Amino acid sequence: MRNIMVSVLIMPLLLGPNVLQSDADPESRDMFLEYNLLDAVALPNDGVEYITDSDNFPVLNIQKEADIKTPYRLILPERLNDFQISGIMRLESLAGGYIFSIVNPLETIVQLGVHLSPVASDFMNITLYYTDPSYDSSRELSAFEIPYTKEWFNFAFKVLHDTLIFYLDCEEFSSAKIKRQPTILTFDSASTLFVGGYIFSIVNPLETIVQLGVHLSPVASDFMNITLYYTDPSYDSSRELSAFEIPYTKEWFNFAFKVLHDTLIFYLDCEEFSSAKIKRQPTILTFDSASTL
Ligand SMILES: *[C@@H]1O[C@H](CO)[C@@H](O)[C@H](O)[C@H]1NC(C)=O
Ligand SMILES: *[C@@H]1O[C@H](CO)[C@@H](O)[C@H](O)[C@H]1NC(C)=O
Repeated sequence: MRNIMVSVLIMPLLLGPNVLQSDADPESRDMFLEYNLLDAVALPNDGVEYITDSDNFPVLNIQKEADIKTPYRLILPERLNDFQISGIMRLESLAGGYIFSIVNPLETIVQLGVHLSPVASDFMNITLYYTDPSYDSSRELSAFEIPYTKEWFNFAFKVLHDTLIFYLDCEEFSSAKIKRQPTILTFDSASTLFVGGYIFSIVNPLETIVQLGVHLSPVASDFMNITLYYTDPSYDSSRELSAFEIPYTKEWFNFAFKVLHDTLIFYLDCEEFSSAKIKRQPTILTFDSASTL
C-alpha cells in the first residue's frame, strides 16, 4: 500500500473496572502514555521520506517498497488492556494493505493490526485484527465498510472490555460487541511491528490476487482446511471458492479438486470427500497474461 501518514497511535485507556486496580498494575505508569507506531521508521529507508504537506507540516510518505519493521518491544508495552488505536492518513493508492501489524515471531499470525481492503465501488473495509493467544491463525475482530476518500482522514478503534467502537473523522461511525479471552492482549515477546507497505507472504495473502491456488491452513486439533482459491476477474481480492476441513496425516495423501460448471467436487485419497455448489462468472477462468505461478 502507498500512503501518507501523520501518526498511528496506540493509547492505553483508563476505563472500566481496571481503574480501581491501576495502582497495583505495574504498567499503570504507562496509563497516560501514547505510543506512536511511526517511531518504528528509521531513516534512511528506501521507500520512506518526510515531505511537507500543504500546511508545511512534515508527514511521512510511505511507498509500496518500504520495509518498516522493528521489535515491537521497542515501541509498545508488553500488554494492552482497554486501548485505542488511532491514525491520520491519506491514501495514495487503491490497493489496500496493512496500516500496521504486530506479527508473531514465525510471521504467521497478526496479533494486532489494522488492514484496509482494496477500494471497490468507492468503498473499502477497515479491519481490526486482534488474535487471542488460543487462536492458530489471524482473527478479524471486526470490519467496517467506509467510504474511500482521496483526502486526509482519521480513524480510531476503541477496544473496550466487550465493545469495539469505531470512529471515522472523529465521529462515532459504528460499534460491535466483541469477545476477548483473556481481555488483556499480551504480545509474544519476540514479535515484530510492521508499518505500511511491507508485504509478508504468509500473513498477507490479500496484498496480491491469487487467481487460482490451493492453500493448506495450519493444523489445529489434527485437522486442517484445504482451500481452493479461484478468483473471477471482477474481484478485487483473492476469493476462496471453497474450503474443506480434512484430517491431518503424516503420511502421503493425494487430493483432487474437480471444478465443473457450477459444482466443485473434492477428492481425498481417491474418494469423493465432499462437494459444493459454486458460482463462477464467467465459467471460463482466464489468467492475466503476466501472471506468476
Ligand atoms: C466489505 O466486507 C463485506 C463483508 O465481507 C463485503 O460484503 C463487502 O463487499 C466488502 N466491501 C469492500 C469495499 O471490500
Ligand atoms: C476450518 O475452517 C472453518 C471455517 O472457517 C473453521 O471453523 C475451522 O476451525 C477451520 N479448521 C481448521 C483446522 O483450521
